[in-house]
Amino acid sequence: MCGIVGYIGYRQAAPVCTSGLLSLEYRGYDSFGIATLSPALSLCKHLGKISDAKTSANHLEGQIGIGHTRWATHGVPSEINAHPHVDRNKKIAVVHNGIIENYAELKRGLEERGVVFASQTDTEVIPHLIAEKYTGDLLAAVTAILPILKGSYALLILAEDNETLVAARKGSPLVLGLGDKEYILGSDALPLLEYTKKAVYFEDGDAAVIRKDGYEIYNAGAPVSRPVTELEWSADVARKGGFQHYMLKEIFEQPDAFANTLSVVKRCNEFIDQIRNAHSVTVVACGTSANASMVFSYLMERVCHIPTRVVLGSEFKYFPTPGTDLVIGVSQSGETADTIAALKLAKNLGAQTLAVTNVLGSSITRVASSVLYTRAGPEISVAATKSFISQVAAFMQITNLLSDHQIEFELAEIRRYLPDVLSLDLSKAVELCTAADTLLYIGRGMFYPVAMEGALKMKEISYIHAEGYAAGELKHGPFALLSPETPVIGMCFPDAVYPVMMSNLKEIKARSAPLIALGRKDDKDLDEVADVCISLPAVSEYGAVVLSSVILQQLAYHTAVALGRDVDMPRNLAKSVTVE
Ligand code: F6R
Repeated sequence: MCGIVGYIGYRQAAPVCTSGLLSLEYRGYDSFGIATLSPALSLCKHLGKISDAKTSANHLEGQIGIGHTRWATHGVPSEINAHPHVDRNKKIAVVHNGIIENYAELKRGLEERGVVFASQTDTEVIPHLIAEKYTGDLLAAVTAILPILKGSYALLILAEDNETLVAARKGSPLVLGLGDKEYILGSDALPLLEYTKKAVYFEDGDAAVIRKDGYEIYNAGAPVSRPVTELEWSADVARKGGFQHYMLKEIFEQPDAFANTLSVVKRCNEFIDQIRNAHSVTVVACGTSANASMVFSYLMERVCHIPTRVVLGSEFKYFPTPGTDLVIGVSQSGETADTIAALKLAKNLGAQTLAVTNVLGSSITRVASSVLYTRAGPEISVAATKSFISQVAAFMQITNLLSDHQIEFELAEIRRYLPDVLSLDLSKAVELCTAADTLLYIGRGMFYPVAMEGALKMKEISYIHAEGYAAGELKHGPFALLSPETPVIGMCFPDAVYPVMMSNLKEIKARSAPLIALGRKDDKDLDEVADVCISLPAVSEYGAVVLSSVILQQLAYHTAVALGRDVDMPRNLAKSVTVE
């Protein structure tokens, strides 16, 4: 979590840093800060959102600067704990994304040497340690202390009267944008897009010195060169483009995300072949990516007859099955610590590892032997929408190709109908949801992960307690929750499970719970049993999975808006969860 930016060039650094931080705010948003050199070191920190205080931050003078947006790990959100952190003489400033695991021990040593700490953060040890080594060569001082830092870091460092910016990376992402006589650094490529399309992704162990007229990268003390990557995303895709929230914009981008991902997967022959040759597959993922992966497991077992299980990234280490020959890590951001740790463990156990991600050059791509990129474009809203739909698109296309085009027709149908479900009138359902304290989402088969994803979306942005259940499980406990105040959202389409699903819905109605049903247009029986019926076009089961997911995203969105929630930045969350 946390996002960092840096700038060195001919512009005023502060506005570049604050606008870069705004694009990284999805990584954490409890406080922020920037430091600039002019050549004296100036500092500015604020509790709360960047947009509330960027005007005062933008006044800092200087053409070299660093910035940080925070998601608290060590120490409460406060101005003092916000980055940049400085040494005792306030000459060295550091922004850090990651965790210094041995900070307590390092802190004790520094305190014995007379250092008084200002903050409760793990990061603050770094400027103090650098200050002890610094004699004018900032890179040398940083390189001297890196070996004693245990844990993960992406670091940007400034020293007063020193016209350089030093960067280092181990385990946390860091990208350098190469502009024309200027350089921009970021935790990901979003802050770079205004200024350049050329980027260098640092590798673990890299430390770099960046001057106004060039840069050098070192690894283990030796100079190294890293390839220059051409960025595909444009600055426009990272803006709201007239929508009230990023989430809504991203919901509307789903027809493109779905279609683009379908076509790119068609060209991933090597990736598909590795799955084709597997005896069994384990998928590791977290949150929304795990829900999309569950849809994949149903598809793989039903259509391709390849045993496929999904294990949460955070649970994999407790039962990594011996003998699984293929492990696929699925992560929109490519930075989720639990998913990456699971993939690394699988690799150490001898499994072949693949990754499905949306972000070029992200950390997961360095672990897996082969990578499939979904084509959602940058997803800024903390609640995942278009990345989920692109993952489902990728999984449906993989299944389609593995099974010799068994679901080609269904995929075309989804492309055709997706735009139609973007602007349905959900006001009656929203009214029921906003009045509720608890919501239950139910489905069978592939609609079970759809229910879980719908509930996850609802709880994270509306703060209403919501649970996704396999419909058959309700009678095994959750029925006790049913009351006129507990709406149930059920998915019921004319497929093999329709009759049993319909009985489940009737059982729910018999317990006076309000029922919101997603079903096929013209289903009179469903109309009769449900309080609110949300009608989908007459599509296949695969189509209904995708279209229902998109409708449930909108239900969560409109409920959260009606309740006045901060839709794009829900409380306590961050988009990239880079700590285990
Ligand atoms: C929910 C959401 C999270 C992420 C999870 C994994 O809307 O976005 O549950 O899906 O943190 O993130 P990635 O896919 O980046 O590994």
